Amino acid sequence: MAAVAPSILAADFANLQRDVEMLNTSEADYIHVDIMDGVFVPNISFGFPVAQAIKRYSTKPLDFHLMIEKPERYLENFRDAGADILTVHYEACPHLHRTIQLIKELGMQAGVALNPHTPVELLSEILSDLSLVLIMSVNPGFGGQKFIENSYRKIYKLNYMREELGADFKIEVDGGVNNTNARSLVENGADILVAGSFVFNSSDPHATIAALRKN
Ligand code: DX5
Ligand code: ZN
Repeated sequence: MAAVAPSILAADFANLQRDVEMLNTSEADYIHVDIMDGVFVPNISFGFPVAQAIKRYSTKPLDFHLMIEKPERYLENFRDAGADILTVHYEACPHLHRTIQLIKELGMQAGVALNPHTPVELLSEILSDLSLVLIMSVNPGFGGQKFIENSYRKIYKLNYMREELGADFKIEVDGGVNNTNARSLVENGADILVAGSFVFNSSDPHATIAALRKN
């Protein structure tokens, strides 16, 4: 049984309340909130006012994925915007250990995301401090991209490291997730499946979420 985190990036922002309420009544375990700054990634998504609007209507835990440079500048703002899980990118944090401790001190669960080219081994010294590791299975910046096959291998290796350490962080996979790759992702060790376009472009998002959870 996988947990599912639909990505609100694929929602209709002109009907954000409607789409958040649709997720509230679904079996979704989290709402995944993608924040892009136009610097770390070549796209801008939205900022605090929109995040607060999501929080106002959501009854699900909010899983924030920060694709921004120097995220340590805004940790408190994201806590105030309702983040339950706060995930920063390894590639955006020279002082990752400090950033992770600050996230935890602010009362949130701390996660680290890895771009497709970043080896999971680079997290070996910090894994036991984390609640979540997010494996990017596309290059971050846009929804609707093609899944990168090498992601299975990274998840498998990370799951092995987790077992060796006896750690209990969750493994989340994000990008191009759909019903053809979900099963293998879970078999390789993924716990949380993020899905944007596959959920929101489907004719029955509730059924799509329920089907993904069955993996
Ligand atoms: C990409 C984002 C993803 C994206 C997933 O940079 O981090 O969360 O919304 O969208 P799909 O599922 O359409 O690839
Ligand atoms: Zn994301």
